[in-house]
Amino acid sequence: MIISEQEKKELEDIYQSFLHDERILKMKSISMHRGSNCYIHSFKVAKLAIKRALRHKKGNLQVILVGAILHDYYLYDWRTDKSKMRHHMSSHPYAAAENAERDFDVHEPVKKVIQSHMWPVNISDFPKTKEARIISNADKAIYIKEISCSKAYKKKREQKYYKQIEKLFDE
Ligand SMILES: [Fe+2]
Ligand SMILES: [Fe+2]
Repeated sequence: MIISEQEKKELEDIYQSFLHDERILKMKSISMHRGSNCYIHSFKVAKLAIKRALRHKKGNLQVILVGAILHDYYLYDWRTDKSKMRHHMSSHPYAAAENAERDFDVHEPVKKVIQSHMWPVNISDFPKTKEARIISNADKAIYIKEISCSKAYKKKREQKYYKQIEKLFDE
């Protein structure tokens, strides 16, 4: 999919506004895998999902971008919050969708992609749209990359990740 410079700029502006939004910045305190955190993870998923959508000429790019950035916007740390630990894998997409609706007034297609990103863990919530499938797959690809890193150089890796997510479109 070839998009105009104008469209590219619009997507970059949306990305940047989320990247610096103080509600989104809270995700930095939620640790994830090996030098990543919820904030880094979400923007990495967003970048990969947009790249794949452009390559395969699929989906509404704004839905993909916003859905990917907010797909893990559940805002609690299941490692420290014992009440959330047990059902985190299956319940966090619904918590994230609820928070996204409350804080960013997202519309139905975005809510749907957030809710279905954990398929097949949530077997009944199949990602029915192209946008949902791109995000669910990008999430898994980033997750696998994150967990396959060694535990060493965690701090260094974190700095590298922050550099990588500075922009949606690399030069
Ligand atoms: Fe998730
Ligand atoms: Fe995720």
